[in-house]
Amino acid sequence: MDHPVKEYFDYALQLVKEAGKVLLTAEDYQVECKSEVYDLVTVYDRRIEEVLVRKLKEKWPDHKFIGEEESEASGIPELTDDPTWIIDPIDGTANFIRQLRMSAVSVGLVIRKQQTLGIVYNPFTNECYTAIKGQGAFLNGKRIRTNGETDISKVVFAYEISLARNPKYLDLYMYRLKHLMRVVSGIRSFGTAVISACYVADGRLDAYQCDGLYPWDVAAAGLIVTEAGGHICDTSDSGKAFDLMDPNFLVAASKALADEFLIHEKKADEERINAK
Ligand code: IPD
Repeated sequence: MDHPVKEYFDYALQLVKEAGKVLLTAEDYQVECKSEVYDLVTVYDRRIEEVLVRKLKEKWPDHKFIGEEESEASGIPELTDDPTWIIDPIDGTANFIRQLRMSAVSVGLVIRKQQTLGIVYNPFTNECYTAIKGQGAFLNGKRIRTNGETDISKVVFAYEISLARNPKYLDLYMYRLKHLMRVVSGIRSFGTAVISACYVADGRLDAYQCDGLYPWDVAAAGLIVTEAGGHICDTSDSGKAFDLMDPNFLVAASKALADEFLIHEKKADEERINAK
């Protein structure tokens, strides 16, 4: 069955824009801590996810949903071949609470396990990144492409180290950072997976990485990067292929650049394992 993807896209885009506007007038965040002190949720995360799911479900009752807040409460549902909306109501919740203006509503649609459309909207900068599979990536309706960088020595790299309080990740980050800091031109850490990845898509950044992410961090932004000509791969030390449902996420302006990163990270991982 052929799906009316453009109809899905137009409707979702309008919902995402409305949801984003809510963030601009937020006042009483009602912050709660989830499993860890750095993992925060506000009343706005829950409200936006509830509204997006309800409105999409009213329109397409047989579609499935994977939302950050619902999944964290009841577990991540299995991904089937059915059209599945994957939603992060606010990516960069800690930034939002601190009024850092780098937070976004992210909605992706996966059909037959293929990332089919993606929308990432930062209402604070009024930047809306979009992609439909096979039709390119756009920022506020204007076509975007990665900068195509291949030389790691020229790279500004965003490395998200938000799981550093977990001993498994702390070690991994420290060894990888030690290696990468010697070869790239600069390192940043923005606290939002979806915006960082979109900055690779539009060429502001050359590469972005976060180990230990979730489907809602990559469903929309991953498609936007690949539609912009970028490369996406997995960075776990097991060497597995990129898996939307268990993402360890490196996105880079080009495949050559991603390969270069993986060579350095492999060396760092070997050093860490040998040091044990
Ligand atoms: C978080 C951000 C952050 C990443 C975390 C995510 P949230 O999303 O994307 O950059 O490092 O792992 O959980 O909690 O703000 O939606």
